[in-house]
Amino acid sequence: MASERKILFRGGIIVNAGGAYEGDLLVENGKISDTGRNIGQGAGEVVDVSGKFLFPGGIDVHTHLDLPFGGTVSNDDFFTGHMAAAFGGTTSHIDFAIQTPGETLTEAVDRWHEKADGKAVIDYGFHLAVTDFNDAVLAELPTMRKRGITSLKVFMAYKGLFQVSDEDLFQTLRIARDSGMLVMVHAENGDVIDVLVREAHEKGNLAPKYHALTRPPEAEGEATGRAIAVAEMAGAPIYIVHLTCALALNQVRRARSRGLPAYAETCPQYLYKRFEDYELRGFEGAKVVMSPPIRSADNWPHLWQGLADDTLQVVSTDHCPFCFDGQKDLGKDDFSKIPNGAPGIEDRMMVMYHGGVNEGRYDVSRFVEITSANPAKLFGLFPRKGALLPGSDADIVVWDPEKEKTISAKTHHMNVDYSLYEGMKVKGVPVRVYRRGELLVDGDTFHGEKGSGVYLERGVFTPV
Ligand code: URP
Ligand code: ZN
Ligand code: ZN
Repeated sequence: MASERKILFRGGIIVNAGGAYEGDLLVENGKISDTGRNIGQGAGEVVDVSGKFLFPGGIDVHTHLDLPFGGTVSNDDFFTGHMAAAFGGTTSHIDFAIQTPGETLTEAVDRWHEKADGKAVIDYGFHLAVTDFNDAVLAELPTMRKRGITSLKVFMAYKGLFQVSDEDLFQTLRIARDSGMLVMVHAENGDVIDVLVREAHEKGNLAPKYHALTRPPEAEGEATGRAIAVAEMAGAPIYIVHLTCALALNQVRRARSRGLPAYAETCPQYLYKRFEDYELRGFEGAKVVMSPPIRSADNWPHLWQGLADDTLQVVSTDHCPFCFDGQKDLGKDDFSKIPNGAPGIEDRMMVMYHGGVNEGRYDVSRFVEITSANPAKLFGLFPRKGALLPGSDADIVVWDPEKEKTISAKTHHMNVDYSLYEGMKVKGVPVRVYRRGELLVDGDTFHGEKGSGVYLERGVFTPV
């Protein structure tokens, strides 16, 4: 529900993708109605934001809430995940409605709506992950536009479960091109990985580190190049999800330098976690079992550079939390049974601000671009979301650039018993978070109402 109140944010630094300026911002009925100076006379509520940044609410375009995976279910649902997102300054996200083989696409989307109905607090949309390719499914794809879905995910990995053939990838890209949909690709060579996993089993190599060793960066680099080549042949744009390494990044860079509409995201864990985390004592390495895996730290500077120079357009989280106790331990005796995924929806804005802005890799406008504006443009939400402009939804993050915080599972709101960033000190945190003009978070207090988040029917993507 939109707020009926008039709220004036006075004296902050308003940040959009194109730049930042000092000014006031007026909200009426859940929308931004004006920005500038000396505006909003007679506003009922005045919020002094001097010394603070105002950012458009974060948009996380890659999440897995309430996802059945590997014999269990990711441990944040559409309430706990949304509350955690709001505490971290994220006010919209796009989750993956994943088709179960045998199911129609309509059934998959209906199932995901049921998960969110009555629970949502932030606004949400769905991508459709297609896993079962047949004539009926391919014919159904364009009808998803009517359900507000304008992006699809396909997997080049997870052989025997979700993996797409090149033929189906090509056909899907052509259908998507003709229907104004963007295809997102999980780019890892599933055939090679399948052989390597079998060999690891035969040799009795079952510890968590073999998850990474059986999914080498070459498998990602090859699949990224192949996906882009197939998209070029199909005449379609393409978006590579959760890119982790220099080999894959170089494929995207080469494609973009040739003018191809190739886009890519990375996730904070690939900028902060290192291969050696798989070798930590005991079973600790399971905490970073995700696909693609964490790489060696020499990839980090390449990814930061890619974010700064626009080879990478988006930072998402791939938030897919499984508890260390009771879920990750399903793979105690075999890395291939560890549920794939890690938490991050609450941390994304803080760690990307800290590592990006504080450490001089990009400025606040680029921070807004990769965490909010580009996600909104590429996934058909701009300028309703992703901007602080008259007419945009009043999704506003009041950000204190001086405030410090130590990230910990003891204090985070994600429904998971560990943090990827345990003990990390960040400077720059959200202190108030509004969604459509309603205060969701004020310091440590949550004000969001369960069920108040709305489903976002998305338009076609805008190239960035
Ligand atoms: O390990 C991951 N990333 N789990 C979620 C599924 C996926 O591939 O995105
Ligand atoms: Zn994936
Ligand atoms: Zn994912």
